[in-house]
Amino acid sequence: MSVYKIIGGEHLHGSVKISGAKNAALKIIAASIMADSPSTIHDVPRILDIIKLEEIIEQAGAKINVDGNTVVIDPSSINTTKLDHDLVKQLRGSIVLAGPMLSRFHQVEFAQPGGCLIGARPIDTHLHLFSQFGIKLVEGGDSYTLKGKPVSGDITLNELSVTATENAIMASVLSPGTTTIYAGACEPEIENLIDFLNNMGAKIKTYFGHKIEIEGVEKLHGTEHRIIPDRIEAGTYILAALATNSEIEVTNINPEHLKHVLNRIKNSGADISVSANSLSTKKHSGLKSVDIDTRTYPGFPTDLQSQYAVFSATTTGSTRIFETIFESRFGYIEEIKKMGADISVESPHIVYVHGPVTLQGTEIDALDIRGGAALVMAGLIANGTTTINGAELIKRGYEDMAGKLQKLGANIEEID
Ligand code: EPU
Repeated sequence: MSVYKIIGGEHLHGSVKISGAKNAALKIIAASIMADSPSTIHDVPRILDIIKLEEIIEQAGAKINVDGNTVVIDPSSINTTKLDHDLVKQLRGSIVLAGPMLSRFHQVEFAQPGGCLIGARPIDTHLHLFSQFGIKLVEGGDSYTLKGKPVSGDITLNELSVTATENAIMASVLSPGTTTIYAGACEPEIENLIDFLNNMGAKIKTYFGHKIEIEGVEKLHGTEHRIIPDRIEAGTYILAALATNSEIEVTNINPEHLKHVLNRIKNSGADISVSANSLSTKKHSGLKSVDIDTRTYPGFPTDLQSQYAVFSATTTGSTRIFETIFESRFGYIEEIKKMGADISVESPHIVYVHGPVTLQGTEIDALDIRGGAALVMAGLIANGTTTINGAELIKRGYEDMAGKLQKLGANIEEID
């Protein structure tokens, strides 16, 4: 088990460079297996979820070469349609291999994907969309076998699911004819995936109104691609800087992807200067509470909800946080309450954070990637020492968080 030990109370200073986006890299690596030649992908974060996805693909026969943040994937030697049971169970993101496997091999067998415990997270939307492609499903124990060549046509998603949209796109790129996806999600990571696929030879167009049109092509070739900056990692460092009243620079960001988050933060009174691909926070003399509700993009991301709650503990007033996407994403609250946070839970979807409060360091447990990052923020603002158990959960989604914070002057160490 990995543990983060933080001695709080330091202001942060200096500059932090944001890594490539986890939730773009996972899908782009998955998409690369549909090509008939190798792809080179830059700015792939070296985080546990990516390493596990690479292992699943390697187990299936692909050759992967990693050099720093550049990953070269040769999918030509994949020789099975059965994905490693234990690895698939460890990450929810593995579900995005289903679409590419169906496109290339017309069959895939996989276990019920696991991942963070932040809600029921069923895969019914995925199974429903595959059935619209004419794919047959065989369920056996805790595994699924999907069989058939995806047939193009009109696909309507049950909900604006990120990974289901990505699976629908990837299932259709090699299907002759036109596929139109209705009610598709439009997160920047999906746009990055579409750019990658189009560079591989796919023909995908997006339209206003959550409509995506795919003209099937005969084959896809490998290509070179750069992963977009991680807007959730960027938001985490911005909120950490404001919560610790620090002046820092956050580089390698796309501020357009953070419009709504920055709007909320600026409404609290924070002074932030934004340039083309970086941003600086300024010291403040106290910020005021601003409510949020989490929504699909371009709304406030659910993946920043827990970090925003910790930031809200430092602002004056009561902040209403309405989590609309997941039904149990407040697990971290019991942990920060142990540190003295004043939070009333109104329902599984709504909490009120009352501030400002002074937190006190203690021993707490990380329960998921983003909730874990929020606990790190709590440790940074608390008096005394905070020990966070289960730091490997944070390392699933954040590249070298302890190292990046140390460079910003935080007193944090990782103990294995
Ligand atoms: N849902 C269903 N059935 C499905 C799929 C989803 O009911 O078959 C529900 C979910 O339970 C949830 C809602 O639909 O209530 C939205 O889930 P979505 O499918 O959009 O989530 P996801 O695709 O599984 C991705 C990210 C998550 C992020 C969400 C929402 C990846 C690998 N994961 O998950 O990222 O929270 O979209 O933006 O892209 C994270 O990075 O820490 C993380 C959890």
